[in-house]
Amino acid sequence: MATIVSIGSGKGGVGKSVIAANLAMLLAKRGKRVVLADLDVGGADAHILFGLLNPPRTLTDFVERRVERLEEVLQPISAHPFLQLLPGTGDTLATANLPYAKKKRLIRHFSQLQADVIIVDIGAGTSYHALDFFLMADWYLTVATPDPTSVLDLYRFIKLAAIRRVLSAFLSRDAVSEALSDRDFSSIDEVIQAVGETDPNARDTASRTLQGFQPYLIVNRVSGKSRVNVLQLKKLLKEYVGGDLTMLGEIPDDPAMTRAVRSYLPVVEFEPTAPASVALNRAADALLAELTKPTPVATESAPSPERAA
Ligand SMILES: Nc1ncnc2c1ncn2[C@@H]1O[C@H](COP(=O)(O)OP(=O)(O)O)[C@@H](O)[C@H]1O
Ligand SMILES: [Mg+2]
Repeated sequence: MATIVSIGSGKGGVGKSVIAANLAMLLAKRGKRVVLADLDVGGADAHILFGLLNPPRTLTDFVERRVERLEEVLQPISAHPFLQLLPGTGDTLATANLPYAKKKRLIRHFSQLQADVIIVDIGAGTSYHALDFFLMADWYLTVATPDPTSVLDLYRFIKLAAIRRVLSAFLSRDAVSEALSDRDFSSIDEVIQAVGETDPNARDTASRTLQGFQPYLIVNRVSGKSRVNVLQLKKLLKEYVGGDLTMLGEIPDDPAMTRAVRSYLPVVEFEPTAPASVALNRAADALLAELTKPTPVATESAPSPERAA
């Protein structure tokens, strides 16, 4: 079974797709069979990063059952035999009537692909689609820039993802959606109160669910002047969400990145010695080291969000 790594962010334009593409390429170079899947419902563009301007098939063909097997959507990436792409189409996925079961089917098929690692590029923001897809992975990776709005949006994204995860431990899916749409929780304790949980074990269940929620963070576009206050973000998350955020790497702001995008190549291929490439290699090593650990998500005690209504 393939290991699924989702990459999310609170805000768009922070470099999520370029980081996903480069990490996918680097893991392939390190001998992993990698699939880069583009589930960015707002702006699927991973294929463009590889110069594949008109993919013959996209995930929409699978979601709408024009093809039965996900393999039929896979596109080879010419530069590397171990790297394949599942192109997305954005619009269709965003507007598609995509109930939870269909999303789950999609992810189930992901994990059955002949691959070691599936990197899933999730759209920015806190739509249900984005949160659901993000949470269906085995490992969670988030990206922010040092820009205060990006950090704040990431905090909100992680908080909502954590809350959605905890709610799923108590409520049916429909009720989860309702509980979430109605209000803005500021802490997990509030969530427990909101579900009317009087069972003294509820808090234990909630914290067990959260123990399995340990996102990683890559800070992108770091420059000498601007350093994100990662400690502050970690503290906020610990305090209000109860979850841990682990730093996976910092990528400098580097004009080579833009040159690479214009050349339809990952920067690690285009300019392997550029500062961004060096940092991405470090991040890929760190990610690989984490992936060899047992996944924190698969805690037996945490009820799966899959639990039906
Ligand atoms: N480290 C970086 N240094 C310079 N430019 C960057 C860096 N990371 C990303 N960019 C620029 O930001 C643009 C948006 O990145 P993208 O990955 O498409 O964002 P997202 O997927 O988060 O919306 C890229 O096309 C690239 O030009
Ligand atoms: Mg993107």
